[in-house]
Amino acid sequence: MGSLTHEDLHAGIADPGMDSMRLLSETAMKFPEALSFSSGAPYDGNHDLAVLSSSVERYIQHLRDSGVPEGRITRLMFQYGPVNGFIREEIAHMLRRDENVDVPPEAVMVTHGFQEAALVALRGLFTGPDDVLLSVSPTYVGMPGAARTLDIPVTPVTEGPHGLDPDSVAAAARQLRARGKRPRAVYLIPDFSNPSGTVVPLEARRRLLRVAAEEGLMILEDNPYGLFARDGEEMPTLKSLDTTGNVIYLGSFAKTAFPGARVGYLVADQTVSSPDGAQRALAEELSKAKSMYTVGTSSLSQAAVAGLLVDNDHTLRSATRELAHLYHERLDTVLRCLAEHFPPERYAEHGVRWNEPRGGFFLVVEVDFVADLAAMERSARDYRVSWAPMSMFHLDGGGRRAMRLGFSNLAPADIREGISRLARFISDTPRD
Ligand SMILES: Cc1ncc(COP(=O)(O)O)c(C=O)c1O
Repeated sequence: MGSLTHEDLHAGIADPGMDSMRLLSETAMKFPEALSFSSGAPYDGNHDLAVLSSSVERYIQHLRDSGVPEGRITRLMFQYGPVNGFIREEIAHMLRRDENVDVPPEAVMVTHGFQEAALVALRGLFTGPDDVLLSVSPTYVGMPGAARTLDIPVTPVTEGPHGLDPDSVAAAARQLRARGKRPRAVYLIPDFSNPSGTVVPLEARRRLLRVAAEEGLMILEDNPYGLFARDGEEMPTLKSLDTTGNVIYLGSFAKTAFPGARVGYLVADQTVSSPDGAQRALAEELSKAKSMYTVGTSSLSQAAVAGLLVDNDHTLRSATRELAHLYHERLDTVLRCLAEHFPPERYAEHGVRWNEPRGGFFLVVEVDFVADLAAMERSARDYRVSWAPMSMFHLDGGGRRAMRLGFSNLAPADIREGISRLARFISDTPRD
């Protein structure tokens, strides 16, 4: 019994699709001299070791200033704490300031990153084998991957240049119902989606909310990049527009604070009635699942994030303005360099096109050859530039001739050099 095969393990473990991100980063890491457009890591230069401990200190001081007794603060930091977290009030405050979302702290659960919020929401909502998750495609792999580990079937809904189209969601929901299935929820990243950089326009947001209410669908809204919009181009979140209680909001501090903290949150203010007539917020009910996954989120990480919130008057929107401008400069540099190497008016000659997101961390370049992991390896080895095959993010078999470029952690000079290397790789690769 010392050795096992994949058949002995859950099907999700054997599924090569579940390994795509690891394979991608391993391939990129094999060629450390390659300039990497393959990841969506936030800008390293924004991370300051001194801030780690000072943020924790700042939060402890804030508790003292608020009159919390020393013994209680000590217990909060050292002992097992409330499963749903002790910085819910700080997050609720931030949501009021940054997102115009007004929920009580009980409707917030502090999670181990977005990823745990996804697992908890899925576990709570999906009750049987006929419940299906609709997911935008191409998509961030964290959500369909989480669904796979829970044996939740996922139906892709292919997005257009303006993200997920509400009519396509309604059509997919009806088709599922006609087959005896229950479309339970729809997952999307309405602001600067990963991988495509698309933004769902305001009117489509409203229609999506109507579709969700009509079709009885919950919306799982994932929004790590929304704060990186340009001044005056900010969009209201689906959660802030929701009047029917269909949206569960999944937040992350990975890009606005730092991913190593592993702090995210779930906002679920829907009420749940139990048999004894008691009513509690859905986030509180879901804490049963969280308690069995991680018991609670690290007190140190919660304190570090809360320190940043307290220090910035509970608005990360203002605190990240400079960072947002830096990302815009990087995005603009990528777009300018692509246009220099591949003039759009000579498209017929070079066969390369790309989308032009207004923010976020990613854009998509379409090419005239199969841009798979083997092609990426050739690009990294022979041309010293790496990227991510779009096929890794498609749930519908698409994206074979497209690459995702992530530019968030590359300085403009590296972007210029990287795009020039990429242009050589693309020009040298025969069309097929
Ligand atoms: C769309 C999207 N959601 C969630 C995350 C990750 O969130 P976390 O690190 O909090 O799990 C990412 C990270 O790249 C992302 O692109």
